[in-house]
Amino acid sequence: MCGIVGYIGKQEAAPLLLDGLRRLEYRGYDSAGIAVLDAGEISLRKRIGRIANLAELLHEQPVKGRMGICHTRWATHGSVTNENAHPHTDQSGALVLVHNGVIENHSTLREALVREGHRFLSETDTEVLAHLIGKHLAASGEPVTARRLVDALRTALQQVIGTYGIAVLHRDVPGVLVGARRGSPLVLGIGKGEHFLASDVGAIANYTREVVYLKDFDLVSVQADGFEISTLPGGSSGYEISAVDFKPQDMTMGEYPHFMLKEIFEQPETITDALRGRLSREEATAKLGGLNMSNAELRAVERVVLTGCGTAFHAAMVGEHLIEQLAHIPAEVEFASEFRYRNMPLPKDVLVFALSQSGETADTLAALRESQRKGHRTLGICNNVASTIARESDGGVYMHAGPEIGVAATKSFTSQCAVLTLVALLMGRIRNLSSSQGLRMLDELEALPDKIRSILSLSDHIRSIALKYCHSQAMMFLGRQFNYPVALEGALKMKEVSYIHASGHPSAELKHGVIALITPEVPSVFLAPQDGVFEKNLSNIEEVRARKGPVIGIGTQGCRRLEKICDDTILIPQCPDFLSPILNAVPLQLLAYHTAVALGCDVDKPRNLAKSVTVE
Ligand code: M6R
Repeated sequence: MCGIVGYIGKQEAAPLLLDGLRRLEYRGYDSAGIAVLDAGEISLRKRIGRIANLAELLHEQPVKGRMGICHTRWATHGSVTNENAHPHTDQSGALVLVHNGVIENHSTLREALVREGHRFLSETDTEVLAHLIGKHLAASGEPVTARRLVDALRTALQQVIGTYGIAVLHRDVPGVLVGARRGSPLVLGIGKGEHFLASDVGAIANYTREVVYLKDFDLVSVQADGFEISTLPGGSSGYEISAVDFKPQDMTMGEYPHFMLKEIFEQPETITDALRGRLSREEATAKLGGLNMSNAELRAVERVVLTGCGTAFHAAMVGEHLIEQLAHIPAEVEFASEFRYRNMPLPKDVLVFALSQSGETADTLAALRESQRKGHRTLGICNNVASTIARESDGGVYMHAGPEIGVAATKSFTSQCAVLTLVALLMGRIRNLSSSQGLRMLDELEALPDKIRSILSLSDHIRSIALKYCHSQAMMFLGRQFNYPVALEGALKMKEVSYIHASGHPSAELKHGVIALITPEVPSVFLAPQDGVFEKNLSNIEEVRARKGPVIGIGTQGCRRLEKICDDTILIPQCPDFLSPILNAVPLQLLAYHTAVALGCDVDKPRNLAKSVTVE
């Protein structure tokens, strides 16, 4: 949520900053801005809308300088205006700051500053922070130095309640960029004679292969040829230099028109990557060393809780079924945003899974911390390596899906389901699953990538269905058991990228009220594979047909009965029910994608959304 990039070095800053910012645009796209320092003068440019608008402004009014900061905004405090766009300046105009996060006590701080004579130009919490730092810097009346800038930042941040990832520069301190983080990610990129700051490593992967993932309460002072990391209270902070673990081309669309489509088509490979090195034929189980748990500890687990938000929550719902069915352990799911405020009575031997593609979602992180406060063991299932959730969990499993740039989560859902299947297999094998059941599961898991390829080959067929229904008033998504969460996920995908209202329901719930919405203008998408509830699904389809509601059936290849009663069908390869969420999700992703494209929507950057929700 909001992206920041900072640069200091030998090169012209603006092109590098703009390039980094483009790679962060998925974090927010309400407005963008840049500040560059040269010869004691700060050039500031900002503009509402996409980064392309800022690029246009920079073309008309170029800036010059070898150090600078920039920002892409997802509005929290204050509407989308040029005034509210970052960077923000302090009262003197000599200090500029970009911020990702929320300053919760901004009103109190603002009132106090106004009483002291400060005048604000925006409605943002960020401008308050800039003024606060500036106030501490001006307090002694002495000339501004790097040391005094860092001290002022330290004092100001100690007065702040909330979250921040910030980058700051001051007109009178050329050659020093200062950054700090608490609750919002910030990465330091190390180069030769140059350094970078960014909210996400993807922004700087083109320029550096070595990074330091800053920790909460780290404060970094960066120069072209060095850096110093301290803690917010003032002591020195240990840090680790990590290698950038993905290629810059992972952040580009390649031959695809949109990231969403690219990421849907990557799924045969991302599932392979989620399984790689984790299948043990010898023991007919999964090997997940990152859990940091012995078999005895896993065997002692009495209950599992899975938490996450949005798509990750839907994957958690799939996980609930997987763990109950395959490992016979009672499991439940809870929205992370609810879990953090709920006092859930849990037994001592509970295992809490926090699911998050980004590993930075504020609600999921808070749920994880709340579980830890209660003494529960927590495991993270994340995609972003070294993300806060991954680092703060007691153990976990990486999804290895590569960067997901499209705001609509696609490959991360199927990877989360694949990882959860491995967890359920491992926990089942030390309890109730036989080795032959384990081996059959391994076979089925290994067959997934080819089956996904065959579904992807139906993309044109799915597009023709999307064209037929893209002007619908609303859409229903229905499924049972393992496929109820997939119905919810299908509805979420449709809503967020095409803006068609869609809702997901357990198929049998239709007749308890939802059926009132069925009309010839409201198509229903039924997930009806040939499983134990196939006949029941057919009856529910008939109920919709009787009310003249069009039906799109997602079923098993060769299923003539489904073809006969549906207006349109998408038939996909057979698989056991515990893997059907992975396969069934793919046609729903394509249906949402093609519908959105047909309607001319911006699929990679849907309105009002941001990829990584790092505010509450
Ligand atoms: O990074 P996370 O997995 O924690 O993100 C959770 C949700 O914000 C995310 O899944 C969101 O719902 C997506 N836009 C869904 O497509």
